[in-house]
Amino acid sequence: MPKTADRLKGFTESVIREMTRVANQHGAINLSQGFPEADPPTAVVDAARRALSDGVHQYAITWGAPRFREALAAKQRCWMGLDLDPETHLVVTCGSTEAMMVAMMTACNPGDRVIIFSPFYENYGADTILSGAKPIYVPLRPPSYEFDPDELRRAFERGVKALVLCNPSNPSGKVFTEAELKTIADLAREFDTFVITDEVYEHIVYAPHRHRYIAAMPGMFERTISCSSLSKTYAMTGWRLGYVIGSPEVIQAARKVHDFLTVGAAAPLQEGAVTALELPMSYYEELQRWYTERRDLFLGYLDEAGLPYTVPEGAYYVLADVSRFNVTDDLNFCRWMAEKIGVAAVPGSSFFHEPVHHLVRFHFARKKETLKACGKRLLRLKELG
Ligand SMILES: Cc1ncc(COP(=O)(O)O)c(C=O)c1O
Repeated sequence: MPKTADRLKGFTESVIREMTRVANQHGAINLSQGFPEADPPTAVVDAARRALSDGVHQYAITWGAPRFREALAAKQRCWMGLDLDPETHLVVTCGSTEAMMVAMMTACNPGDRVIIFSPFYENYGADTILSGAKPIYVPLRPPSYEFDPDELRRAFERGVKALVLCNPSNPSGKVFTEAELKTIADLAREFDTFVITDEVYEHIVYAPHRHRYIAAMPGMFERTISCSSLSKTYAMTGWRLGYVIGSPEVIQAARKVHDFLTVGAAAPLQEGAVTALELPMSYYEELQRWYTERRDLFLGYLDEAGLPYTVPEGAYYVLADVSRFNVTDDLNFCRWMAEKIGVAAVPGSSFFHEPVHHLVRFHFARKKETLKACGKRLLRLKELG
């Protein structure tokens, strides 16, 4: 029997999806896989339905349907403060997942080094391996999740092609400050390096924190490959709509990668999503309110259960410290918690390059009733710990 490719040995199946299976097996409330327990606005769903009825069934232009690109450029112009041209500055992809893969393959030759902050969203490890790049991990140390600028400089000095910046960050909930972004931007310019961003949580940020786009910092547009998606902002993770924003040179190359990877994102859903991209500012204010309420509610339950955590500044995850249970194997701890407590979380070690085993990640993009039920179950930890 022929053997599958060696490169696949470099990474395992997603632990998050394994925890979803464990949750289902034990009837646990699943706070592992992070998708919003909400629907997109009705007007957006209606617009997609209309596109299907109106006969939008064939391939869109590979780099994105014109109406979608125009609406996206208009929206991002406003949020990023950049003069974006829908013809030359964007590629529409199948989610940020494809956007990141496209960005990595556009930026890197096999053997190139890429800086990844640890903890990191698990796709980045696989993205680097699949594109032939070699990761260099720079720690964001808990509980503050700050990086050491000298350590980051030493990583750049090893000769790197790109740095991956997940901002706001999954799993830590960190929102990079202006000063931190300036440090990264200065190093990227000094060492002539790309910055590949993943900004899927750009609209889920908790006051007083503010999301800043590194692409908009002086001298950064031509070296930043900005990736994001509509998945989280409009509660449409299943629509698989994302994008890459970059300079015309980068985008010309990225279009080629995208075309041969997927041809394009779903045409009728791009038409429907124009309505989402045109939503007024009040939509984003309501989104912030929705998530802030859930964050505060869930953190209250962690307090009651006696689990310390770092307050998330953005995104919808929290890393909680379970060290008082003398955890040495956090995967087993999460399996135990799903079975005995009835709440599924993700073992923190699946996000860290360093040997960190005292954290678990919960997501709180759930209905208040679901979070309340979790809160009750988590109280049992108090009796057991
Ligand atoms: C940091 C980060 N990037 C990308 C994704 C996936 O995004 P998309 O649905 O746009 O592919 C997720 C999903 O959880 C995520 O947390």
